[in-house]
Amino acid sequence: MTKKNTVRQQVLAANWKMYKTLGEARDFALKLLPLLKENSAQVIICPPATLLNELQKQFSGSVVAIGAQNIHWEDEGAYTGEISALQAADAGAAYCLAGHSERRRYFGETGPVVALKAAAALKAGLIPVVCVGESLQERENGLALTLLHDDIQASLKDIEPTTRLMIAYEPVWAIGTGRVATPQDAEDAIAHIRASLAEIWGNAAQKVSILYGGSVKPDNIGALLACPNIDGALVGGASLSAASFAAIVNAAG
Ligand code: PGA
Repeated sequence: MTKKNTVRQQVLAANWKMYKTLGEARDFALKLLPLLKENSAQVIICPPATLLNELQKQFSGSVVAIGAQNIHWEDEGAYTGEISALQAADAGAAYCLAGHSERRRYFGETGPVVALKAAAALKAGLIPVVCVGESLQERENGLALTLLHDDIQASLKDIEPTTRLMIAYEPVWAIGTGRVATPQDAEDAIAHIRASLAEIWGNAAQKVSILYGGSVKPDNIGALLACPNIDGALVGGASLSAASFAAIVNAAG
């Protein structure tokens, strides 16, 4: 178990992507709760939008909060297939992801769109988790740190400093590939993200939780959480099983 002396909240968030039916989600909830040991970390599950309401009911009164994977930035309108931050909040979400790399890659989301989504989330009372991360090619070309700096500033420069916002550093080459960034690589990138945020947000950047995401598993979470700037994890594949997600959550202090 990793204990940290930090002003920041530790956060373990599950990103279920396009997985699980209602029955599977209920089964997960029943299995997860008895496995969780008491600790001070915030636990979040981001399921497909169809499961927000049911999971909010299943986890009500527990340490587990619910988050949307994506929102539209308008409150309502003729946007077929989209859900607004207000609708996500109404369905039981307290958090939402903004700008996950799969949204950027497959649905063309860019820094300015992510900024609109983060602002809409805050306005609706949701805590946005703004995701950033470089591709393998960008890393190999030595562009990772510049890209992270520019992306953070493009997404957050017009947002008032707040602790009701989190960032997830997810190097694209580590997502779903089994290739986890070394704790030192993740720590260096996250420290750089925090410094880039401090340029626009000042001291408030020290209080923003920044998570690592990309092939996090029960056997690598401990080393990641031991790094001073890494405040938690956004977990895809390993969050689909209650046993492995519980083991990840229980690694927090
Ligand atoms: P992974 O996904 O843990 O399966 O690599 C992380 C994510 O995409 O958030």
